[in-house]
Amino acid sequence: MKHLLYLKDLNQETINQILDTADNFLDHDNQPIGSENLLKDKTIANLFFEPSTRTRSSFQIAARKLGADVINIDEEHSSRAKGETLIDTLKTLEAMGVNYFIIRNKHSGVFHDLLEHIENRSRLINAGESNISHPTQGLLDLVTIRRHKKDFHNVKAVILGDLAHSRVARSLTEGLEKMNTGEIILVSPKDYEPDMTLFKGARYTDNIESALRNADVVVTLRVQKERMENETQFIDLSQYYQDYGLTSKRLELCKKDAIVMHPGPMNRGVEIENIVADGPQSVITEQVTNGIATRMAILSIIEKSAG
Ligand code: CP
Repeated sequence: MKHLLYLKDLNQETINQILDTADNFLDHDNQPIGSENLLKDKTIANLFFEPSTRTRSSFQIAARKLGADVINIDEEHSSRAKGETLIDTLKTLEAMGVNYFIIRNKHSGVFHDLLEHIENRSRLINAGESNISHPTQGLLDLVTIRRHKKDFHNVKAVILGDLAHSRVARSLTEGLEKMNTGEIILVSPKDYEPDMTLFKGARYTDNIESALRNADVVVTLRVQKERMENETQFIDLSQYYQDYGLTSKRLELCKKDAIVMHPGPMNRGVEIENIVADGPQSVITEQVTNGIATRMAILSIIEKSAG
């Protein structure tokens, strides 16, 4: 693995290697056991052209734990605001000796273009691309599921919410498919029905009760108002909560040991009830902790395999 652009590009063996490596870090309190100072002479640039708390901070923490220098660049305070292209920004940072580029971009389709322009020694990691992909989130979600459910084959996973605008749903479904997950159900109001040709291994329904029945894993998604282009997609949020919010009553339809996930940030009282988000079945803060170990795993595997 030289770069990480899409989860669908990884085979099951590589995903298992990432999950095992992340498990090892987690079992050692997120310390870099086996990869101490691996990135000692490396500089990592976090280029985030959309807001982020979890992904950017956890990449920063993960890279520092492995010994790297880290710089953070956002649109507003960089020469991107003066019209510099992303390629020119990368070339500029390469000239300063930056080795790893962690990129979040609001527009889709930049990564393959960038690959053609960067130097052979540079590494690219997708930290979220429009509504298309978020592979490191998908991987940390797989780490979280496997730590609770052990075996993907017997898992009924439900992804609930604004599927039409969700890069998390896309990448997680790709990962769950690769791991031969028992059942993958996507559920949303009809207004947020996704293009199902992009979710080949999953089944779609707008019936939340049938979807949740006997589920092992429920992933709730944020309603992404910032990605909505026309009025028809701005559905009434209190109506949304009534019809599709994950409430404690609805959670009772799932298995007793079902886990509740959310990539964050959450809209409490819109897609999830407070008591569920903070309840005993919630693993939402665990996902955040697992995000550091997963990103340490990704960086260390890229560094070890690509040299
Ligand atoms: N889940 C996620 O990508 O969160 P941030 O936008 O805070 O990075």
